[in-house]
Amino acid sequence: MPDAPQITESAVESAVEAALAAIASAGDSAALKAARAAHSAEGSPLANFNAMIRDLPGEQKAAAGKLVGAARARVNEAFAAQESVILAAEEAAQLAAEAVDVTAVPSRWRAGARHPLSLLMEQMSDLFISMGWEIGEGPELEHEWFNFDALNFDEDHPARALQDTFFVEPAERHLVLRTHTSPVQIRSLLTRPLPVYVAAVGRVYRTDELDATHTPVFHQIEGIAIDKGLTMANLRGTLEHMAHSLFGQGAQIRLRPNYFPFTEPSAEMDVWVENAKGGPRWVEWGGCGMVNRNVLRSAGIDPNEYQGFAFGMGVDRTLMFRNGLNDMHDIVEGDVRFSRQFGMVV
Ligand code: PHE
Repeated sequence: MPDAPQITESAVESAVEAALAAIASAGDSAALKAARAAHSAEGSPLANFNAMIRDLPGEQKAAAGKLVGAARARVNEAFAAQESVILAAEEAAQLAAEAVDVTAVPSRWRAGARHPLSLLMEQMSDLFISMGWEIGEGPELEHEWFNFDALNFDEDHPARALQDTFFVEPAERHLVLRTHTSPVQIRSLLTRPLPVYVAAVGRVYRTDELDATHTPVFHQIEGIAIDKGLTMANLRGTLEHMAHSLFGQGAQIRLRPNYFPFTEPSAEMDVWVENAKGGPRWVEWGGCGMVNRNVLRSAGIDPNEYQGFAFGMGVDRTLMFRNGLNDMHDIVEGDVRFSRQFGMVV
């Protein structure tokens, strides 16, 4: 058996130095644990010295106990100090690894885009509101009386024919999908006190096939003004103001004689659009005229006391020639990439 090491100052000191060196070079918890096993735990030189004290002669016990106790205390202190350094570093590393960059720019989630038709209809409504007009409404599933009879259409007027109008079953209820916004004229006159200045925008239906310039569901803006002493000059001025605000100050209005059962005289209106895509030109824009006396009578108004004008134009058409669109499919298909081009990304 080799001689057991003696508890000498230099033996204890070199055990302490070995422990301190191992502690100082331990870079993480695992290395520190290994250092503890080698230099402080059961079987390590310092633990062995400690165990040997018990077998020393009585007079040596106190000095050896003091020497070994002080050595173990230094080593334990060094362990504690290194342990807190390592734990702090490890915690910092974990925080860094799990950090969330709250300032990072995420890839943008697009909610969609307003449809250019909705925006144009809003712009048109705002225009009339700014002139003090009211906004009127009516149902898309409309009674024939409002859509035709009250508007002075003859029983056999061709517009009632099946190729234009969606009649809704059962026939005896006399319901149609409104073919124009003009029934809102009648609804406005029946529900409001005179004078009446009402604009209405909305969906209308005709039995057209969908192609580049037609769609069975489209949109109109309607206007009706009934007051004392209104003339065609008021109609023209209103249309001009509307044209200027939608197409710029260079826009002009041209009226050509036409026929509508609910206006007399009636006119087709063209608008000169200076900044139309594709160059300045006259564009057919809609119909208008002085409200027919029979229409006033069907709303219970005395045509000798009140007169007025009405007009109606297609919103989809307006969007197309204003923005240089040439395919109706783009308007009806609802592809958000189409709508986004108009710069209305929400
Ligand atoms: N309602 C008519 C159409 O759809 C347009 C119009 C409205 C004409 C008001 C005159 C007055 O063609």
